[in-house]
Order: sequence, then C-alpha cells, then structure tokens
Amino acid sequence: MRQIIIDTDPGQDDAVAIMLALASSELKVLGITTVAGNVPLELTERNALMICEAAGFPNVPVFRGNAEPLKRKLITAEHVHGKTGLDGMKLFEPTIQLQSTSAVDFIINTIRKHNSNTITLCPLGPLTNIAEALTKAPDIAARIQQIVLMGGAYFEVGNVTPTAEFNIFVDPEAAHIVFRSGVPITVLPLDVTHKVLLTDERILRIASIGNQMGREVANMASFFERFDKEKYGSNGAPLHDPTVIAYLLYPEIFSGRFINVEIETQSELTRGMTVADWWGVTDRVANAMFIGDVDSDQFFEILIERLSKLP
Ligand code: BDR
Ligand code: CA
Repeated sequence: MRQIIIDTDPGQDDAVAIMLALASSELKVLGITTVAGNVPLELTERNALMICEAAGFPNVPVFRGNAEPLKRKLITAEHVHGKTGLDGMKLFEPTIQLQSTSAVDFIINTIRKHNSNTITLCPLGPLTNIAEALTKAPDIAARIQQIVLMGGAYFEVGNVTPTAEFNIFVDPEAAHIVFRSGVPITVLPLDVTHKVLLTDERILRIASIGNQMGREVANMASFFERFDKEKYGSNGAPLHDPTVIAYLLYPEIFSGRFINVEIETQSELTRGMTVADWWGVTDRVANAMFIGDVDSDQFFEILIERLSKLP
C-alpha cells in the first residue's frame, strides 16, 4: 500500500481528490496538511476536516499549515471556488479537530520515522508547506519517494495570469525550492487537467451513483463549472487536483516527458511561470516528469467507481 501525505487548500477539486484517495485501498493517507490558497487558511483547515468527516474517515489526522506564502501576500480564488472554498457542498461544522503538531513538523517527522523512499507527498495547492519542510530539514529530500503535484502549465500557459497557473503563481519562491530539491517530481499541469472536463453528462453520472458523496461532488461541480465554462468557453470545467491521485493509482493512463522545469520568481509579468523545456532546447538537467496527456474517459470511470465506495 502506498503511503501518502496530501497537502491541500480545499477547494472543490481538492475535496474530490481527497475523497478519491480515501476511497482507494491501494493508498494509505497518513495525514492531510492544509495550506492557504483557494481561500484563507481558517477555511481550508475547516474544509479538510469537513471532507474527512463527511467521507467517513474522521480518524485521518489533519494539520495546520502556512497561512501566507513564503515571501508574498496571499492571493486567493473566491471568484472560482466561492466564499467558503467548497460552495455547492452541504456545509456543516466538523466535530473532528486539527492536530496540535504543525503541518511542516508532521511532514518532517513522518518522513524521518518511516523507511526511506516510502512516503509520497501529494501537493494540491501552493507549495509553501513543502518548501518550508525541505528548508527546515534538508535531510528529508533524499528520503521522499516522490512528490506528485498539481501545478504549472506549458502548452496551456496560465489560468490566473496569461503565463502562470494558480498554485505556482501564489508562492513561486516555494515552487522554486521544491523544483530544485532533487526529489523525484511528477507534475500534473493544466495541460492535463484541462482535458479532464466535467461535462453535463459526467456530472449526471456522478450524481446518479446514488450516494451522498456522489451528490456532493455533482453539486460542487455544478457550482464551479459555471465560472470555468464561461471563462474557457468549453463544455465543462477542468477537475484539476484529482489527477494527482489518479496518477498514483493508474499511471498508465497518463503520458509525459522527463524534462527540466524552472520557476520564474523575478519578473512580475511572468511571475510563477513554469518554464518547461518540453522540446529539450536547453542543456538544463531534467528534474521533473511533466505530464502532457491523459485518457479522460478512463479517468472518469476510475473516479466514479471509487466515489461509489463512499457513504
Ligand atoms: C489549481 O488551483 C486551484 O484553484 C485548484 O484547486 C487547483 O489546485 C488549478 O490551477
Ligand atoms: Ca488545489
């Protein structure tokens, strides 16, 4: 069983990613670490607790992470996710509580206490916590099995500025640290997530699973797809973060290239751009498996099958 830590800023698509992981017996979710991103930290924490409780996993520990990026002011995305971050879902006050250890210490301690190469980190938001852990405890870099993250873009370029994807844009300094860390990295960029579209037909299938989580996912999808459909003119909103979990489960439905990826931190114009050497036009050393394609029908088959295992 693969042991993972999910670092997240829920976010409707983060919520679906967490549900997918919890519903998958091939994965053991050791903990969920929260970070500010889509909405401020008080909300991402509450949302993570709420999702674990609603999905029937109240014992998965949830940790408090960073409320601000390393060097910048926080930028949030209520215009996409709504005021709460989980608009569309039936919200309630979670009864489970945050752990007292910080997210960063939990990440460090967990990696140190398990055998080397047995822990995978799954960041679904800005990379602030991961960068802080790598900076505070450089010894963990050599012990992490893999970092599989949602962020960045090459062919799709940007969603929050013309040249940057939200997670990398919010904390480019953190992303720079992570991409330079030497840890094996797999990136699920917009190039992939923009192919995983929540069409009306797929939302209907999710709603028709007949369980509560299926209905919640369908309702959340209907909420944020209004915004994305208008923005992209596509026939459905992209479901970004669950691609990370689907990649862990079925890497064979994805394809990509092992290339060099650098993060723009200097220019205000292109802040947070993932400068991905897809065509191999530099001699910079490859540092990331950059995914470019996915079989989206297969992706939704997997998602629907897993969601049906939840309450
Ligand atoms: C990413 O930003 C957030 O809005 C989503 O949760 C996803 O992690 C997509 O750019
Ligand atoms: Ca996210």
